[in-house]
Amino acid sequence: MQPEDKKRIAAAAAIEYVEPDSIIGVGTGSTVNHFIDSLALKMGARIKAAVSSSEASTERLRGHGIKVVDLNEVGRLDLYVDGADESNSQLQLIKGGGGALTREKIVAAASDRFVCIADDSKLVQILGAFPLPVEVIPMARELVAGELRALGADPRLRNGTVTDNGNQILDLHGLEISDALELETRINQITGVVCVGLFAQRPADVLILGTDQGIVSYTAD
Ligand code: A5P
Repeated sequence: MQPEDKKRIAAAAAIEYVEPDSIIGVGTGSTVNHFIDSLALKMGARIKAAVSSSEASTERLRGHGIKVVDLNEVGRLDLYVDGADESNSQLQLIKGGGGALTREKIVAAASDRFVCIADDSKLVQILGAFPLPVEVIPMARELVAGELRALGADPRLRNGTVTDNGNQILDLHGLEISDALELETRINQITGVVCVGLFAQRPADVLILGTDQGIVSYTAD
């Protein structure tokens, strides 16, 4: 099965977590795009609205006629569905390959259940082969880069990328993340960092993978 088909079946399987009349959180990326398309097809007007983690997802949701509301209007959400760049068996994630990590982290933090959808290439033993994104305030970029080098990372500016929040992204190469919780805390403490794309304090609750054998679901160890 092609990776795109694996993403599509994982996305379709997440629909069973969506309750009629609910307001759901929606992430960003190519897998989520399949989810949005499935959502429109299978649930359509039966969901009340969505809270979106990016301008790109907002546009796609609205294109399907799904209402998008501000998180501040709704408070907590029952469900958040999003993709990932990597997941380990504890369902700790690297996210932000699409640059939407900060809003994704906010919507995940506001949600009681986080269902992550991906193709099976995303499940890894140790996080870090995928460069870890860090959103930074532009004027602090070099200051933050120096602190990240001291942690053993090789930070590289994602050229030409400005986030939906007007910031820049440093991608951290060369990390083998054995303690994701600790690294997330340390990077969060650097002045000038807006957000790190490590989801360890708030991991996924369910991981749905598309594989050659069909859908495989995991819950955290
Ligand atoms: C967006 O910023 C990311 O966190 C995505 O969730 C992640 O990059 C997965 O994207 P794909 O579904 O396109 O692989």
